[in-house]
Amino acid sequence: MARKVLITGASSGIGYELCHVFAENGFDVVGVARNRGILEMMNNAWCSLYKTKFEFLVCDLSDSGDLLNLFDYLKKETVDVLINNAGIGLYGKFNSTDIQRNLDIIDVNMIALTKLTYHFLKNSEVKHKTVINISSIAGFYPGVGSSVYFASKSYVNSFSQAVAIENEGVHRVICICPGDTATNFFENAGGNVHQNAADPRGVAKLVYDSYAKNASLKIVGIKNKILFSLLKILPAFLVRKYSKYRHIFKKIW
Ligand SMILES: NC(=O)c1ccc[n+]([C@@H]2O[C@H](COP(=O)([O-])OP(=O)(O)OC[C@H]3O[C@@H](n4cnc5c(N)ncnc54)[C@H](OP(=O)(O)O)[C@@H]3O)[C@@H](O)[C@H]2O)c1
Repeated sequence: MARKVLITGASSGIGYELCHVFAENGFDVVGVARNRGILEMMNNAWCSLYKTKFEFLVCDLSDSGDLLNLFDYLKKETVDVLINNAGIGLYGKFNSTDIQRNLDIIDVNMIALTKLTYHFLKNSEVKHKTVINISSIAGFYPGVGSSVYFASKSYVNSFSQAVAIENEGVHRVICICPGDTATNFFENAGGNVHQNAADPRGVAKLVYDSYAKNASLKIVGIKNKILFSLLKILPAFLVRKYSKYRHIFKKIW
């Protein structure tokens, strides 16, 4: 029997590519998103592309009623891998932005991810399960001009690493931290995609490799690895300066 992966944010960007990469590696895929039209298109194209199964669940992760259907699914079905990929952002000075959009970020990036991880690890009878949380390098420093998004990813990084240690030897929790990736994320967040942004298919392949190779924390890309190392040794005031002027650094590096 094929292993099954449930992927949130399956209708676009990294999540869409994750669906394909896991199918190429023999997984049945359950795609979760709000956009029914795209999920139906994926469903229609699936059998001509892969031997594995595709199902989809239309769900707004910021809606607690919709989430109940997902918990139900996780309780009844055998799912081997949960990928908490769905995520939203917002650019702008915090007190000039829309408060509801900031609260949506918390609902989708943190609350839904936490609840899904809980119900997935608690309910199913599968012994060795894997949670993959798609976080961000943004989670390692304060995000001037995108404060709630960066803070949400800081939560995901910390939460994922702690739950990974608590479940050592039983279940795996993998935290993946990409940098800028060429998806609709930026447009949806009111920003612009970076010219050197990574290809989402490449990021999805790296997520699969991290799963296959038993990694627990993965920083995507050499520049992000260097940044990650610097963030650990630089004094806090320089980290804050970097955050404020990072748009300039990104143009020259
Ligand atoms: N792009 C980057 O530069 C970058 C860098 C680091 C980390 N990441 C992280 O990578 C993950 C994927 O982002 P992406 O770049 O692939 O963005 P994307 O192309 O905008 O995709 C976001 C996905 O999340 C889903 N989604 C958004 N709000 C939702 C909600 N309320 N309920 C259910 N699904 C929802 C969207 O589907 P529907 O609209 O159909 O619901 C879509 O499938 C996110 O966690 C993001 O933080 C991205």
